[in-house]
Amino acid sequence: MRDTPQASELLAWYDRHARDMPWRVSPGQRRAGQRPDPYRVWLSEVMLQQTTVAAVRGYFHRFTLRWPTVADLAAAEDTQVMAEWAGLGYYARARNLLKCARAVMADHGGRFPDTRDGLLDLPGIGPYTAAAISAIAFDQPETVVDGNVERVMARLFDVATPLPTAKAELTHLAAGLTPRDRPGDYAQAVMDLGATICTPRNPACGICPWRTPCRARAAGTAPDLPRKLPK
Ligand code: ADE
Repeated sequence: MRDTPQASELLAWYDRHARDMPWRVSPGQRRAGQRPDPYRVWLSEVMLQQTTVAAVRGYFHRFTLRWPTVADLAAAEDTQVMAEWAGLGYYARARNLLKCARAVMADHGGRFPDTRDGLLDLPGIGPYTAAAISAIAFDQPETVVDGNVERVMARLFDVATPLPTAKAELTHLAAGLTPRDRPGDYAQAVMDLGATICTPRNPACGICPWRTPCRARAAGTAPDLPRKLPK
């Protein structure tokens, strides 16, 4: 299947508006053929599992200064890693982080597996994180669906079914848009769109790269989507 015009439009927007994150490569670096470091992508995705980008930045910086490679982290003392993690919460993540780094060294020759299935076998990597790492670090055409992506899809396709019932449908819609060209940048572009423009309240539809195809914008329903079943 060919990549959709929507995917191309979003990638063009990402080239101009991508948020600067320490685990990404800049558009200039990318044109020079540079790829993101799988170790940094993995570390960022584990830290971001239950924590905001703003809170993760400082931790990511300190971890990568102290342990610049997966080999360094695998050789660290457990207590030092736990101490550096303090404040991020969900400490099982830190224990799995060390287990995973050691498994990459022991079982994979120090290189992260490049497929979703290979990544899923590692400690602390579930379906979301496996898809995110294989897309972002290895440009595999995986679809990455978090809360941001669900909101963007619910609006783009004006899906009135409430969450969580709508999850499968939103994932299917997201998969249909995932391009063969630059799927890793595309995954991060949808996340950035959801975080900066297609926000839960007061979405900035007027400057959205998807303002023309967006069905919720046409219907005036964007601020009300996605609907959620009462908990
Ligand atoms: N949240 C989780 N992973 C992310 C990423 N790579 N970029 C932006 N937000 C994210």
